[in-house]
Amino acid sequence: MLEFPQLHPRQDPGFQALIELAPSILSADFAHLADQVARATEGGGSLIHVDIMDGHFVPNLTVGPPLVKSLRKATPLPLDCHLMIEDPDQFIPEFAEAGADWISVHQEACRHLNRTLHLIKSHDCQAGVVINPATPVESLSEVLDIVDYVLVMSVNPGFGGQKFISGTLRKMKKLAEIRAERGYSYRIEVDGGVALDTVAEVVRAGAEILVAGNAVFGKGDPKQNAQTLLEAARSANLQKV
Ligand code: DX5
Ligand code: ZN
Repeated sequence: MLEFPQLHPRQDPGFQALIELAPSILSADFAHLADQVARATEGGGSLIHVDIMDGHFVPNLTVGPPLVKSLRKATPLPLDCHLMIEDPDQFIPEFAEAGADWISVHQEACRHLNRTLHLIKSHDCQAGVVINPATPVESLSEVLDIVDYVLVMSVNPGFGGQKFISGTLRKMKKLAEIRAERGYSYRIEVDGGVALDTVAEVVRAGAEILVAGNAVFGKGDPKQNAQTLLEAARSANLQKV
Protein backbone atom coordinates (compact mmCIF):
# COMPACT_ATOMS: atom_id res chain seq x y z
CA MET A 1 0.00 0.00 0.00
CA LEU A 2 1.20 3.49 -0.80
CA GLU A 3 2.05 5.63 2.19
CA PHE A 4 1.54 9.35 2.04
CA PRO A 5 3.63 11.65 4.19
CA GLN A 6 1.50 13.00 7.02
CA LEU A 7 1.15 16.76 6.90
CA HIS A 8 0.85 18.17 10.38
CA PRO A 9 -2.22 20.44 10.47
CA ARG A 10 -0.03 23.43 11.36
CA GLN A 11 1.94 22.92 8.11
CA ASP A 12 -1.22 23.05 6.06
CA PRO A 13 -1.40 26.51 4.44
CA GLY A 14 -5.16 26.61 5.08
CA PHE A 15 -4.77 25.75 8.76
CA GLN A 16 -6.90 27.88 11.08
CA ALA A 17 -5.36 28.09 14.50
CA LEU A 18 -7.54 27.56 17.51
CA ILE A 19 -7.47 30.84 19.39
CA GLU A 20 -7.54 30.59 23.17
CA LEU A 21 -7.71 33.23 25.86
CA ALA A 22 -5.63 32.80 29.01
CA PRO A 23 -6.78 35.35 31.60
CA SER A 24 -3.82 36.36 33.80
CA ILE A 25 -4.75 36.52 37.46
CA LEU A 26 -1.99 39.06 38.11
CA SER A 27 -4.56 41.82 37.63
CA ALA A 28 -7.40 40.04 39.46
CA ASP A 29 -8.75 40.87 42.90
CA PHE A 30 -7.00 38.21 45.00
CA ALA A 31 -9.60 38.48 47.75
CA HIS A 32 -12.19 37.19 45.26
CA LEU A 33 -9.98 35.08 43.07
CA ALA A 34 -12.28 32.08 42.56
CA ASP A 35 -15.19 34.35 41.54
CA GLN A 36 -13.02 36.39 39.21
CA VAL A 37 -11.65 33.27 37.53
CA ALA A 38 -15.18 31.87 37.17
CA ARG A 39 -16.37 35.09 35.50
CA ALA A 40 -13.44 35.11 33.08
CA THR A 41 -14.18 31.45 32.29
CA GLU A 42 -17.83 32.24 31.54
CA GLY A 43 -16.51 34.85 29.12
CA GLY A 44 -14.54 32.19 27.22
CA GLY A 45 -11.20 31.98 29.00
CA SER A 46 -9.93 28.43 28.51
CA LEU A 47 -6.75 28.33 30.54
CA ILE A 48 -5.70 30.33 33.57
CA HIS A 49 -2.37 32.12 33.42
CA VAL A 50 -0.52 32.30 36.74
CA ASP A 51 2.50 34.61 36.99
CA ILE A 52 5.19 33.45 39.41
CA MET A 53 7.78 36.13 40.25
CA ASP A 54 10.72 35.86 42.64
CA GLY A 55 11.97 39.44 43.06
CA HIS A 56 15.29 38.45 41.41
CA PHE A 57 14.65 37.47 37.81
CA VAL A 58 12.01 40.22 37.71
CA PRO A 59 11.61 43.18 40.04
CA ASN A 60 8.37 42.00 41.61
CA LEU A 61 7.01 39.29 43.87
CA THR A 62 3.83 37.29 43.44
CA VAL A 63 2.69 33.86 44.49
CA GLY A 64 3.94 30.30 44.86
CA PRO A 65 2.74 26.68 44.93
CA PRO A 66 0.14 27.16 47.74
CA LEU A 67 -1.88 29.55 45.56
CA VAL A 68 -1.65 27.12 42.63
CA LYS A 69 -2.90 24.36 44.92
CA SER A 70 -5.93 26.42 45.96
CA LEU A 71 -6.67 27.48 42.39
CA ARG A 72 -6.51 23.84 41.32
CA LYS A 73 -9.56 23.22 43.51
CA ALA A 74 -11.34 26.35 42.31
CA THR A 75 -11.29 25.78 38.53
CA PRO A 76 -11.34 22.83 36.14
CA LEU A 77 -9.32 24.80 33.55
CA PRO A 78 -5.66 24.03 32.90
CA LEU A 79 -3.30 26.19 34.95
CA ASP A 80 -0.63 27.84 32.82
CA CYS A 81 2.22 28.70 35.21
CA HIS A 82 4.66 31.27 33.88
CA LEU A 83 7.81 31.05 35.99
CA MET A 84 9.68 34.34 36.13
CA ILE A 85 12.20 32.97 38.58
CA GLU A 86 15.85 32.11 38.78
CA ASP A 87 16.80 28.45 39.04
CA PRO A 88 13.34 27.16 38.07
CA ASP A 89 14.46 23.50 38.39
CA GLN A 90 14.31 23.95 42.13
CA PHE A 91 10.56 24.63 42.07
CA ILE A 92 9.19 22.78 39.03
CA PRO A 93 8.35 19.58 40.98
CA GLU A 94 6.48 21.62 43.60
CA PHE A 95 4.42 23.51 41.02
CA ALA A 96 3.58 20.27 39.22
CA GLU A 97 2.58 18.66 42.49
CA ALA A 98 0.42 21.70 43.33
CA GLY A 99 -1.56 21.21 40.12
CA ALA A 100 0.17 23.14 37.33
CA ASP A 101 -0.72 21.73 33.88
CA TRP A 102 1.49 23.93 31.76
CA ILE A 103 4.83 25.25 33.00
CA SER A 104 6.96 27.75 31.13
CA VAL A 105 10.48 28.90 31.92
CA HIS A 106 12.49 31.83 30.60
CA GLN A 107 15.33 31.08 28.20
CA GLU A 108 17.22 33.85 30.01
CA ALA A 109 16.87 32.14 33.40
CA CYS A 110 17.97 28.64 32.41
CA ARG A 111 21.56 27.50 32.35
CA HIS A 112 20.56 24.05 31.09
CA LEU A 113 17.41 24.74 29.14
CA ASN A 114 17.11 21.29 27.55
CA ARG A 115 17.35 19.64 30.97
CA THR A 116 14.77 22.01 32.47
CA LEU A 117 12.27 21.39 29.66
CA HIS A 118 12.68 17.64 30.11
CA LEU A 119 12.16 18.06 33.84
CA ILE A 120 8.81 19.76 33.15
CA LYS A 121 7.80 16.96 30.78
CA SER A 122 8.84 14.31 33.30
CA HIS A 123 6.10 15.70 35.55
CA ASP A 124 3.52 15.24 32.76
CA CYS A 125 3.14 18.97 32.24
CA GLN A 126 3.15 20.83 28.94
CA ALA A 127 6.59 22.43 28.61
CA GLY A 128 6.94 26.00 27.41
CA VAL A 129 9.85 28.35 26.84
CA VAL A 130 9.56 32.13 27.18
CA ILE A 131 11.61 34.90 25.57
CA ASN A 132 11.86 38.48 26.75
CA PRO A 133 11.43 41.30 24.23
CA ALA A 134 15.22 41.62 23.77
CA THR A 135 15.82 37.89 23.24
CA PRO A 136 15.83 36.66 19.64
CA VAL A 137 13.89 33.64 18.38
CA GLU A 138 17.22 32.23 17.12
CA SER A 139 18.25 31.56 20.73
CA LEU A 140 15.57 28.84 20.80
CA SER A 141 16.62 27.01 17.67
CA GLU A 142 17.88 23.92 19.54
CA VAL A 143 14.77 23.46 21.70
CA LEU A 144 11.91 24.18 19.29
CA ASP A 145 11.57 20.48 18.51
CA ILE A 146 10.88 19.57 22.14
CA VAL A 147 8.67 22.37 23.45
CA ASP A 148 4.88 22.26 23.55
CA TYR A 149 4.59 26.04 23.38
CA VAL A 150 6.67 29.17 22.98
CA LEU A 151 5.67 32.28 24.90
CA VAL A 152 6.68 35.60 23.36
CA MET A 153 6.79 38.38 25.94
CA SER A 154 5.42 41.55 24.40
CA VAL A 155 6.34 43.64 27.47
CA ASN A 156 9.31 43.38 29.79
CA PRO A 157 8.12 40.91 32.43
CA GLY A 158 7.29 41.93 35.97
CA PHE A 159 4.11 43.97 35.88
CA GLY A 160 0.63 44.00 34.43
CA GLY A 161 -0.85 46.89 32.49
CA GLN A 162 2.25 47.83 30.47
CA LYS A 163 2.34 49.07 26.90
CA PHE A 164 2.58 46.48 24.13
CA ILE A 165 5.97 46.41 22.34
CA SER A 166 5.09 46.07 18.66
CA GLY A 167 8.60 44.97 17.60
CA THR A 168 7.81 41.58 19.18
CA LEU A 169 5.24 40.84 16.44
CA ARG A 170 7.97 39.82 14.03
CA LYS A 171 9.08 37.13 16.50
CA MET A 172 5.59 35.59 16.50
CA LYS A 173 5.66 35.62 12.68
CA LYS A 174 9.09 34.03 12.63
CA LEU A 175 8.00 31.28 15.03
CA ALA A 176 5.01 30.48 12.81
CA GLU A 177 7.29 30.33 9.74
CA ILE A 178 9.87 28.09 11.40
CA ARG A 179 7.12 25.76 12.58
CA ALA A 180 5.73 25.40 9.08
CA GLU A 181 9.17 24.95 7.53
CA ARG A 182 10.44 22.37 9.98
CA GLY A 183 7.19 20.58 10.76
CA TYR A 184 7.18 21.36 14.47
CA SER A 185 4.01 21.45 16.50
CA TYR A 186 4.53 23.99 19.30
CA ARG A 187 1.84 26.54 19.94
CA ILE A 188 2.56 30.27 20.05
CA GLU A 189 1.53 32.27 23.11
CA VAL A 190 1.78 36.02 23.65
CA ASP A 191 1.90 37.84 26.98
CA GLY A 192 1.83 41.55 27.75
CA GLY A 193 -0.31 44.45 26.64
CA VAL A 194 -2.83 42.26 24.82
CA ALA A 195 -6.03 44.29 24.68
CA LEU A 196 -8.71 45.40 22.23
CA ASP A 197 -6.30 47.70 20.41
CA THR A 198 -3.55 45.09 19.93
CA VAL A 199 -5.32 41.74 19.77
CA ALA A 200 -5.94 41.71 16.00
CA GLU A 201 -2.28 42.27 15.18
CA VAL A 202 -1.01 39.56 17.52
CA VAL A 203 -3.44 37.07 16.00
CA ARG A 204 -2.45 38.09 12.48
CA ALA A 205 1.20 37.65 13.47
CA GLY A 206 0.49 34.04 14.48
CA ALA A 207 -0.22 34.08 18.22
CA GLU A 208 -2.80 31.48 19.25
CA ILE A 209 -2.85 31.64 23.03
CA LEU A 210 -3.52 35.13 24.23
CA VAL A 211 -2.62 36.04 27.79
CA ALA A 212 -4.49 39.07 29.07
CA GLY A 213 -4.45 40.49 32.59
CA ASN A 214 -5.46 44.11 32.66
CA ALA A 215 -7.79 43.77 29.67
CA VAL A 216 -9.79 41.08 31.50
CA PHE A 217 -9.53 41.99 35.19
CA GLY A 218 -8.54 45.67 35.11
CA LYS A 219 -11.96 47.29 35.18
CA GLY A 220 -15.53 46.25 34.51
CA ASP A 221 -16.84 42.70 34.35
CA PRO A 222 -14.24 40.00 33.58
CA LYS A 223 -16.89 37.96 31.74
CA GLN A 224 -17.82 40.77 29.40
CA ASN A 225 -14.17 41.79 28.95
CA ALA A 226 -13.09 38.25 28.10
CA GLN A 227 -15.96 37.82 25.66
CA THR A 228 -15.26 41.05 23.79
CA LEU A 229 -11.54 40.34 23.57
CA LEU A 230 -12.04 36.79 22.34
CA GLU A 231 -14.56 37.89 19.72
CA ALA A 232 -12.10 40.46 18.39
CA ALA A 233 -9.36 37.81 18.34
CA ARG A 234 -11.48 35.24 16.53
CA SER A 235 -12.66 37.66 13.91
CA ALA A 236 -9.04 38.69 13.22
CA ASN A 237 -8.23 34.98 12.91
CA LEU A 238 -10.97 34.48 10.32
CA GLN A 239 -9.65 37.39 8.27
CA LYS A 240 -6.18 35.86 8.28
CA VAL A 241 -6.58 33.48 5.37
C1 DX5 B 1 3.87 40.28 33.13
C2 DX5 B 1 3.10 39.01 33.18
C3 DX5 B 1 1.82 39.03 32.46
C4 DX5 B 1 0.84 40.07 32.91
C5 DX5 B 1 0.25 40.62 31.65
O1 DX5 B 1 5.18 40.07 33.48
O2 DX5 B 1 3.86 37.94 32.65
O3 DX5 B 1 1.20 37.74 32.42
O4 DX5 B 1 -0.19 39.59 33.73
O5 DX5 B 1 -0.53 41.68 32.00
P1 DX5 B 1 -1.25 42.62 30.94
O6 DX5 B 1 -2.14 41.75 30.12
O7 DX5 B 1 -1.99 43.56 31.82
O8 DX5 B 1 -0.17 43.28 30.14
ZN1 ZN C 1 2.77 35.98 32.31
